[in-house]
Amino acid sequence: MKVKNICCIGAGYVGGPTMAVIAQKCPEINVTVVDINEDRIAAWNNEDVEKIPVYEPGLPAVVKEARGKNLFFSTNVDAAIDAAELIFISVNTPTKTYGIGKGMAADLKWIELCARQIARVSRTDKIIVEKSTLPVRTAAALREILDNTGNGVKYQILSNPEFLAEGTAIQDLLNPDRVLIGGDVQSTEGQEAISALSGIYEKWVPKSKILTTNVWSSELSKLTANAFLAQRVSSINAMSELCEVTGADVTEVAKAIGMDSRIGSKFLNSSVGFGGSCFQKDILNLVYIAQSFGLKEVAEYWEQVIIMNDYQKKRFAANIIQTLYNTVSGKKITILGWAFKKDTNDTRESAAIYVVDHLLNEEANITVYDPKVQSEQIFSDLDYLKSRSKEANRSNLKVVHDPYEACKNSHAIAVLTEWEEFKGYDWERIYQNMLKPAFVFDGRNLLDIQELIKIGFVPKGVGKPEFMESFAAKPAMVG
Ligand code: UDX
Ligand code: ADP
Repeated sequence: MKVKNICCIGAGYVGGPTMAVIAQKCPEINVTVVDINEDRIAAWNNEDVEKIPVYEPGLPAVVKEARGKNLFFSTNVDAAIDAAELIFISVNTPTKTYGIGKGMAADLKWIELCARQIARVSRTDKIIVEKSTLPVRTAAALREILDNTGNGVKYQILSNPEFLAEGTAIQDLLNPDRVLIGGDVQSTEGQEAISALSGIYEKWVPKSKILTTNVWSSELSKLTANAFLAQRVSSINAMSELCEVTGADVTEVAKAIGMDSRIGSKFLNSSVGFGGSCFQKDILNLVYIAQSFGLKEVAEYWEQVIIMNDYQKKRFAANIIQTLYNTVSGKKITILGWAFKKDTNDTRESAAIYVVDHLLNEEANITVYDPKVQSEQIFSDLDYLKSRSKEANRSNLKVVHDPYEACKNSHAIAVLTEWEEFKGYDWERIYQNMLKPAFVFDGRNLLDIQELIKIGFVPKGVGKPEFMESFAAKPAMVG
């Protein structure tokens, strides 16, 4: 099958950048990204490409090159479905907030709506590609809906999970470690659909990196990849607490173990805890699936990754409170960074939300500075938790657009996102304008601790020893 028109349902952090790169690399294919959110589509169509709704380095240039030529953003979902031979489903699949599986299972409401819409509108055969992260066997549900409510149209369902990480999406899309395509490898139609999708990626990805599996392996691989990555972060974070009490330095430990080629050096940065739209959601999903099959030990094993992550966020907040003489009530605490990682304006599951919620419960006065996150987003993240009234969130938290202003007269600064710009600040100036002792809690081990100490700060990193006394000066350990 020759693909001339692609439709992508969902213009979010995955759909937008992925389709922009496909359009750039396949000028002969028309790519239309559709969304029910009119504001989001209007933002994607903003004449100023710097104002598109997803902040992602390198993305504005790609959008500028393709938009209006073969890349289109529209709210006309029906028309784009009708015209396409291949449809990517890239809608949100958040954790369920109600009913059976609440707090664990993925909510497939939006996926189902897409499937019903495709079934209603389609007049020609289509290849449907699952791009969103989905629980294993979602493809079976999609197939049932499409086959039972359709108008005789034939569908091939493929799973093509996205492995891009936000902040490096364009690089990840241009040079993926692998492209995974799951499909009905047994049938000729299935194989044709797989080669149609593979043909698109082959425009810029070496064929050796395009992997074909059955649909279930592909769906499960995505959950497994995220679970393994998150597990590394939780593992090093577990070690961070041990480092703090033993006098070891977690950065040194990470370097030492990472040089073992069997372990590798990536994803060993100890932090205030992982965030993002995928890690927690996918692990909860995995746990839920394991539980549904009665695999108690498997479920409990993976759940521990989340438990450790929650603990790390709580521990970070508790450390601030304890260090500030056991009370933060009425004290100004400055939060540098709200995004869940650097180089993105995405805040989903950001550790900052939970750390600040904890501090607000202790009646702290919070001031937040983030270079890319809008203030409405910060308030809506806190309101979503329903820990206190919307008014209380607004009166106890201020969003400030100048970092020096944000740090002025504060008792403590907490670095929660590893934005590069924080490193280059005039820390001497910040110190002069703070209350003393001037505490800095570096949740990303981003700043130069020795430099901060020289200025006069009292800095605390994650997994950094409290004391720097020499080994010889410590009493010998017995046993
Ligand atoms: C992740 C996967 O990496 C990606 O393949 C998948 O497609 C989507 O989920 P993303 O959530 O965008 O990507 O970012 P990632 O770089 O994985 O970081 C996730 C979280 O872990 C962030 O909060 C990050 O700060 C944290 N992290 C990461 C650490 O705390 N330490 C590390 O060493 C690495
Ligand atoms: P991701 O990070 O997976 O891309 P986002 O939440 O950023 O997730 O994006 C998903 C997008 O999908 C949202 O903009 C949402 O409005 C859109 N969406 C959800 N359901 C539908 C639907 N039935 N039709 C069109 N767009 C949808």
